[in-house]
Amino acid sequence: MSVQINPSILSADFARLAEEAKAVQGADWLHVDVMDNHFVPNLTLGVPVVESLSRATDTPLDCHLMIEAPDRWAPAYVEAGAGSVTFHVEAAAAPVRLAREIRAKGARASMALKPATAIEPYEDLLPELDMLLIMTVEPGFGGQAFLDIMLPKIRRTRQLIDRHGLDLWLQVDGGVSAETIERCAEAGADVFVAGSAVYGADDPAMAVRALREQAAAKGVDRPR
Ligand code: DX5
Ligand code: ZN
Repeated sequence: MSVQINPSILSADFARLAEEAKAVQGADWLHVDVMDNHFVPNLTLGVPVVESLSRATDTPLDCHLMIEAPDRWAPAYVEAGAGSVTFHVEAAAAPVRLAREIRAKGARASMALKPATAIEPYEDLLPELDMLLIMTVEPGFGGQAFLDIMLPKIRRTRQLIDRHGLDLWLQVDGGVSAETIERCAEAGADVFVAGSAVYGADDPAMAVRALREQAAAKGVDRPR
């Protein structure tokens, strides 16, 4: 699995989303943070914006749903054009059924864990997923400091994935930057969300390339 860099549009200019998508050409996916002001204390965007954005860019959309009742709402994001839909396990009533529904509708199914949620209870669910997201900040806001204490969880998750021989992407989200991406890659992450580190840079496309090079140099393709 090679390195993927997914800029988070949470740090972009919401009035110019189509242009902001073009500003990160070369990115693998656009990370779209959906917040409902209930699961997290912040409010962003919903299905109509995802629908418009998916028409405005060729970069596939990686929708990260920080919402209550994802069982009810996640399928609509697939219909809106998302190529990957991530729900939080803390909010899902029936994560297996939901992952199967997302896949059946034609998107990649992904499950997210908040910092205090352990991976071990979900070992048997991993084959149902295309990606697992380990939050490296408390979800809700961009620009927070990376939580180093998540590195052991990333490492243990990578071991579980390898032990089961799964083709499961391991995404990290929160505080990923030039200072922290190498530690994430060394621990076994292969999909990197970066908001402020990309959109806060003078040249966002160059920031994507630089992060990719850093991660590739330390990443899971190399002996650990
Ligand atoms: C936080 C969001 C992240 C956020 C990351 O809850 O899920 O995707 O945009 O932003 P940075 O990279 O600035 O921490
Ligand atoms: Zn996110």
